[in-house]
Amino acid sequence: MGIETLAGQAAVVPAPAGRHGHLGSFAANASNVATASDAHLTNPAISTETSDGKKSFYLETFGCQMNAHDSEKVSGVLLGRGYRAEENPALADLVLYNTCSIREKAAQKVFARLGDWKTVANGKIIGVLGCVAQQEGEEIFERAPWVSLVCGSASYRKLPELLAQLEAGGRRVTGLDLDTDETFETEITRRDNLIRAYITIIEGCDYSCAYCVVPHTRGPERSRASDAVIAEARRLADAGYSEIQLLGQTVNSYRDPSMRKWSFVDLLRAVATVPGIRRVRFTTSHPNDFYREIVEAIDETPALCDHVHLPVQSGSDRVLRAMRRTYTREEYLQKIEWIRAAKRPISVTSDIIVGFPGETPADFEESLTLLDAAQYDAIFSFTYSPRPYTSAKDLPDAVPEEEKSRRLAVLNERQRQIQIANNEKLVGETFEVLVDARHAARGQWTGRSSSNRLINFTSTRENLLGEYISVRVTRGGPNSLAGEHVL
Ligand code: 5AD
Ligand code: SF4
Repeated sequence: MGIETLAGQAAVVPAPAGRHGHLGSFAANASNVATASDAHLTNPAISTETSDGKKSFYLETFGCQMNAHDSEKVSGVLLGRGYRAEENPALADLVLYNTCSIREKAAQKVFARLGDWKTVANGKIIGVLGCVAQQEGEEIFERAPWVSLVCGSASYRKLPELLAQLEAGGRRVTGLDLDTDETFETEITRRDNLIRAYITIIEGCDYSCAYCVVPHTRGPERSRASDAVIAEARRLADAGYSEIQLLGQTVNSYRDPSMRKWSFVDLLRAVATVPGIRRVRFTTSHPNDFYREIVEAIDETPALCDHVHLPVQSGSDRVLRAMRRTYTREEYLQKIEWIRAAKRPISVTSDIIVGFPGETPADFEESLTLLDAAQYDAIFSFTYSPRPYTSAKDLPDAVPEEEKSRRLAVLNERQRQIQIANNEKLVGETFEVLVDARHAARGQWTGRSSSNRLINFTSTRENLLGEYISVRVTRGGPNSLAGEHVL
């Protein structure tokens, strides 16, 4: 189960921070860039320098937090090579899209973006990174001949080499190998978020869920050595970050490849004790690798956030088997029981797909009753989208699109009622909130609790950004809480 999601056919019931949607592009100062006109012959734009002497890049990211963080690392590589970030793609020498292919709509979006450059590439280098790059490979050159770089995430270690080839006038360069046992390490990572920093601890996926393209686009599972992870956490703490999110498609499948042989729980506990780190999150957990020890670690370690994202995908055993999810409804609910039995309340969120081939009304009803049983704080819900390179793509008994959409709406309405009821019960409680935004027009601040609840609140104080403060809940809505700063 990835941590990828896109706006589109999905989730009406919003959920935890930053998992959804178009993640935006890097911003930088605009400047006047002279672009060469004789487009692709020698890729002149890459050697066209701005008045400050630096080549510029524009990088737009789609999809999940893994992609967002990969983009931070790609930007680091580019900045390290002397490039400058540029917020206007029309002015950039190098235009990169870091892409998502988890559902068809996400992949289509990328080709729409590429289409924008058909007649106006003007010597720019256009590059496609990420999952669509891996999935479509050199076909991208056929569909969009003005593209010069195609590189999947498993080959990002080769990026400096690929960039050097482009700088030397290379016309079409690719990084598409999947048979790598390496992870993407870079000296410089450009951090996009001033509050929360990401650390990838495991890349790729060794599961083979029938609907999912991720094992194909991100390759086999590779864990990072624990000392590299801890060193990165220390560096981030020294740089002033206090909240860290550990990332992986199946984050809890982590196995330390070094002599220390730490388990996921060992790593969690160690990151939580790095001086300066006050909050540690992790996503996404696979139910199959979710052990009681994880709950015990959360219970015993205040810095481990009281939130677990544990995608179930379906409430029906028949569908779970067809999806190759490797657990039953009962086994899944057992794990929810462990979480509910913890000494401090732990928030649980999930991903659910409706309309998988062969899903009957009775199967769908089981997903609805699972919502009642699990009492999630939020879900990401999706209509099934057939993907290339997946075993489900040719399955019979497709559910008609209208029926998928109907089921999605029913599911989301059921979940909405659960969230309204549960959030109302929180009125009067006080949460520690890390403040991450101010809405000047509304006179409000926004932040997240350790349980990842979104809380909008008022305060008489100024300059709260990045502060940990106490907020008392005054109202519970379906997707957020309202409150007031307790001074
Ligand atoms: N169709 C619909 N949803 C999908 N997801 C993954 N693949 C597909 C697909 N082919 C959903 C799963 C996963 C989330 C990131 O995206 O719910 O957990
Ligand atoms: Fe997650 Fe399954 Fe996809 Fe792996 S194959 S990323 S476990 S949904």
